[in-house]
Amino acid sequence: MQGVSRNFFTLAIVYALCGMALGLHMSIGGNHLQMPVHAHTMVAGWLMSAVFAYFYHLFPAAAASVLAKVHFWLTAVSGIGLLVGLFFLLAGNAAIEPLVAVSSMAFYAAMFLFAYIALTALWRPA
Ligand code: HEM
Ligand code: HEM
Repeated sequence: MQGVSRNFFTLAIVYALCGMALGLHMSIGGNHLQMPVHAHTMVAGWLMSAVFAYFYHLFPAAAASVLAKVHFWLTAVSGIGLLVGLFFLLAGNAAIEPLVAVSSMAFYAAMFLFAYIALTALWRPA
């Protein structure tokens, strides 16, 4: 794995380590308040980033494009903003809600960009 593919898989591993640590913290402390942060770190973070990594590994031409780099950075920045923001929001910091709102819309926009990248790569005539 190289380039965008390697970046996504590295990001996936960081999410897995952070999300599982939070899951253990919730279990040991008996406080599941941060369950949505744990759940999204694991599935929208670890699993989705791993899927993106393998997609770009299978489609090197798509991985080499500028759009793929934009996809990585938009996904990484918005995903981290969403999860860190949601953690503080659930902890009681209501003022951070605009960051969570903007980040979640940017995360969705990144998925639209991925849909374009993936579908054009999949359906390109041989
Ligand atoms: C160290 C390992 C893990 C621990 C200690 C842990 C702990 C927890 C805890 C305490 C909850 C809250 C349950 C509740 O309040 O109903 C939870 C929920 C959840 N976890 Fe984990 N977890 C771990 C690993 C994972 C992994 C590897 C994934 C996915 C790849 C995952 C995905 C989820 C999801 C999606 C939920 C939400 C489930 C629901 O909607 O009811 N977790 N986990
Ligand atoms: C724009 C990004 C997203 C937003 C704004 C969002 C929002 C939400 C909301 C509001 C809930 C209900 C939480 C609750 O009732 O406590 C939820 C639950 C859930 N979402 Fe998402 N979601 C997003 C992306 C995703 C993605 C990409 C995945 C999977 C790859 C996912 C998986 C889940 C799961 C497993 C649950 C149930 C666990 C929980 O309640 O936290 N979400 N999401």
